[in-house]
Amino acid sequence: MSLFFTLGLALAASQSVLGAHPSRLGQELRFTANGTFQLAVFEDLHFGEAEDTDWGPQQDVNSTRVMNTVLDSEHPQLVVINGDLITGENTYKGNSTHYVDAIVQPLLNRSLLWASTYGNHDSDFNLSRQHILAREKAWDSSLTRQDVNTSTSGVSNYYLPVYSSNATIHVPKLLLWFFDSRGGNYYQQLDSSGNEVSQANWVDQTVVDWFTSTRAELYTKYGQDVPSLAFVHIPVNAMLAFQQGPGVQSHYEPGINDDDPLAQEGYAEGQGDVTGTVSKYAGQDIPFMQALLDTAGLMAVFSGHDHGDDWCFKWNSTLPGMNLTGNGLDLCFGRHTGYGGYGSWTRGSRQILVTEKLLKKRTVETWVRLETGETSGRVTLNGTYGRDYYPAVADTNT
Ligand SMILES: *[C@@H]1O[C@H](CO)[C@@H](O)[C@H](O)[C@H]1NC(C)=O
Ligand SMILES: *[C@@H]1O[C@H](CO)[C@@H](O)[C@H](O)[C@H]1NC(C)=O
Ligand SMILES: *[C@@H]1O[C@H](CO)[C@@H](O)[C@H](O)[C@H]1NC(C)=O
Ligand SMILES: *[C@@H]1O[C@H](CO)[C@@H](O)[C@H](O)[C@H]1NC(C)=O
Ligand SMILES: *[C@@H]1O[C@H](CO)[C@@H](O)[C@H](O)[C@H]1NC(C)=O
Ligand SMILES: *[C@@H]1O[C@H](CO)[C@@H](O)[C@H](O)[C@H]1NC(C)=O
Ligand SMILES: *[C@@H]1O[C@H](CO)[C@@H](O)[C@H](O)[C@H]1NC(C)=O
Ligand SMILES: *[C@@H]1O[C@H](CO)[C@@H](O)[C@H](O)[C@H]1NC(C)=O
Ligand SMILES: *[C@@H]1O[C@H](CO)[C@@H](O)[C@H](O)[C@H]1NC(C)=O
Ligand SMILES: *[C@@H]1O[C@H](CO)[C@@H](O)[C@H](O)[C@H]1NC(C)=O
Repeated sequence: MSLFFTLGLALAASQSVLGAHPSRLGQELRFTANGTFQLAVFEDLHFGEAEDTDWGPQQDVNSTRVMNTVLDSEHPQLVVINGDLITGENTYKGNSTHYVDAIVQPLLNRSLLWASTYGNHDSDFNLSRQHILAREKAWDSSLTRQDVNTSTSGVSNYYLPVYSSNATIHVPKLLLWFFDSRGGNYYQQLDSSGNEVSQANWVDQTVVDWFTSTRAELYTKYGQDVPSLAFVHIPVNAMLAFQQGPGVQSHYEPGINDDDPLAQEGYAEGQGDVTGTVSKYAGQDIPFMQALLDTAGLMAVFSGHDHGDDWCFKWNSTLPGMNLTGNGLDLCFGRHTGYGGYGSWTRGSRQILVTEKLLKKRTVETWVRLETGETSGRVTLNGTYGRDYYPAVADTNT
């Protein structure tokens, strides 16, 4: 822990919500002098499975290799670790968060900044998402924060501004929103029968309230709707409704589509010692989806969780079984990056390229960098995405 971090905490405690996060030295996110800002998304790394076997630790070595391969080809300004960093089911209470050290090695080696959301596997009897955040904070290059602290909020809810390369411009060019879709089991809690206690797996109402009020404060502060992107581990129900309704077309929403039906916020089968259907979908994420649609300037939302899906779709209309009407917001999956977790689809990492030029048209470019070194599913998320014809993505395994 550095002096800057300690100072940052002291300052944070004494300032208002919007002034609360003075960036530390070298931590401010900026477009390059070329007018570009690239994000690499590491999705579902699942470190720490079966640590008393040979294959468990080997999976983590493999996942590190994937990260290094991706970062040798891509040169992002920010890495997003979008949930399920660790599989908490078999880890030990005393050292379960030590896996964070291994996860961030490839980033530290390249002096990269990162920002995390936590997933359902980041909470279990022996693993606490609060403790993962504390472990991340050993490094100044972790930009992850907890801006909402209610008993139901989860942890990784915050936003990050991205500024122009021209340091005299103080209005951010881009905002990044991070949401915690919770899930998994509560840390060190057992019910009266001695079973682990599951945690709700959708973005909580207290977080939606924080999002809408912070959004309004930022609008007042900057005098405009700053374009934005959002990250949340578990996808919202609109993705399932699209997949099961209009359907994913390989040339219009190119990507693998093997988790069919996919699992969305609100639906959980339980994990670890909690078995059987723990929660059924019952519209739990409607307030969150409504808030996303109401966010002027929000261009796209990125999720993981369903390792066998990596497509994007434009939510531009009504969807079967849903009352909300899309407004052109793009919803995307990442690519399963880790060797841990289910599935052996060729591992990779979603890349997101924002350019100052295309930002004026609310357009971003995205593709997947595979562990083979190849790219896959390169698309432009613009006004005609969903009607533009692209090559289909090959459904391959490692
Ligand atoms: C800027 O663009 C040039 C030419 O495309 C490229 O060689 C260089 O790496 C870019 N710099 C950054 C910081 O992206
Ligand atoms: C590690 O990666 C190699 C190469 O992809 C693969 O053959 C092997 O099965 C992987 N091992 C584990 C335990 O995931
Ligand atoms: C939790 O960790 C302790 C050791 O710290 C271990 O004895 C116990 O088996 C673990 N429990 C679970 C459910 O993994
Ligand atoms: C945690 O402790 C266990 C038991 O001592 C050990 O086997 C394991 O390698 C440790 N894991 C980490 C990530 O340090
Ligand atoms: C980081 O760099 C050190 C020193 O070069 C090296 O030993 C280590 O293997 C690297 N770690 C990763 C994850 O690449
Ligand atoms: C959140 O609240 C709990 C309980 O009051 C406290 O222990 C913890 O330090 C708080 N965390 C943050 C990041 O403010
Ligand atoms: C930076 O922006 C200011 C306006 O805020 C402008 O006057 C200046 O020319 C810009 N500098 C560069 C290098 O573009
Ligand atoms: C749609 O709206 C109607 C009328 O308010 C309501 O009865 C129904 O439950 C809603 N359906 C869904 C799926 O939210
Ligand atoms: C969107 O991008 C695609 C692919 O680059 C392009 O063919 C299409 O013309 C673009 N649409 C608009 C409205 O710019
Ligand atoms: C909405 O998106 C679908 C593809 O997802 C496309 O077929 C349809 O033409 C789009 N409608 C409009 C009005 O853009």
